[in-house]
Amino acid sequence: MSQNYQTSLLSGENSVTQAMELLQKGEAVALPTETVYGLAADASDIIAVNKIFEAKGRPKNHPLIVHIPDVSHLENWAKTIPNIAYDLATLFWPGPLSILLQKADHVHYEVTGGLDTIALRVPAHPLFLEVLTKLNIGLAAPSANRYKQLSPTIAEQVMQGLGGRIAAVLEGGPCQHGLESTILDLVSEKPRVLRAGPVTQQQLETAMGHSVDTPKNHAEAVPGNIEAHYQPSTPLRILSSAQLLEKIDSLLQKNCHLIVWSDTIIERCKKVNFPVSKWSNLENDAALFGRDLYVTLYRVDQTFPSQIIIEKPPQSDAWAAVNDRVSRASA
Ligand code: TXA
Ligand code: MG
Repeated sequence: MSQNYQTSLLSGENSVTQAMELLQKGEAVALPTETVYGLAADASDIIAVNKIFEAKGRPKNHPLIVHIPDVSHLENWAKTIPNIAYDLATLFWPGPLSILLQKADHVHYEVTGGLDTIALRVPAHPLFLEVLTKLNIGLAAPSANRYKQLSPTIAEQVMQGLGGRIAAVLEGGPCQHGLESTILDLVSEKPRVLRAGPVTQQQLETAMGHSVDTPKNHAEAVPGNIEAHYQPSTPLRILSSAQLLEKIDSLLQKNCHLIVWSDTIIERCKKVNFPVSKWSNLENDAALFGRDLYVTLYRVDQTFPSQIIIEKPPQSDAWAAVNDRVSRASA
């Protein structure tokens, strides 16, 4: 039973070896990636893969991303691979780009949620890469959270969500990007971004030399990428900077927590003496904002406000992944 584990937090010397041994025994182990922590298992072992679904409480038709040691493993998992996949791999791997291709015939449908496609990426975190390279296999790994909860970006958050349900968590420090990888569909007629992420649409268009679609209805193409996702336990609302400026005095009386980023609002919070425990200041920079978003939501959740109010982020391409997650968190 997945509830009966004494989950070890592996850190320091031998921790990578211990994680590898557990994976080889068919256990699911949480590993750090540069995006978020992933719950990894041997992608060729159906029993191990099922442990992922059980620990997360994830519906069986939600496909998993398979992480591979390097681009030479693409052919082990995918077929009819277009040249552009290799070009993108050269540019963005190891890194936060998952590429959707036709799955190879032998790949278990348990991994792909019954689909004939497979998402693949080479992660950049040195510990995950070391595990992959030494084992020389593919590791299926969704984000290491219970179904529908926030993706974890620190080991403590994985322990809180999956402690008792998995064999171990490998400590790898806070994740560099803090948001899940960009998913690019290369199977559809025209390449399309199925999930915004650290690799931006513009970067992909520059790399490919043509425009890339960004369909609005993710749930259709990406089972599990539903509107209400990536949510904290506390209800979350988005207010524009102007709305926030207008409401800030009345919010002082409420049990809410503000997450803000603009100089104007930060100054205002200070000026009206908004209690420091009731507001958080994120960076006015898409990458740094993204890095800190989930961990801030996780920490704020633990203070039990009745509402989280987030200052609407800028709307440019660089902020697309942040805006996607913020809007889902508020759905
Ligand atoms: O950054 C990331 O991508 C992290 C780290 C651990 O690599 N992983 C991650 O996995 O976010 P997960 O399972 O939480 O989200 C993967 C998304 C899901 O919404 C899933 O439906 C979609 O990718 N996906 C995976 N394989 C797919 C496929 N064959 N077709 C369509 N969508 C797919
Ligand atoms: Mg996830």
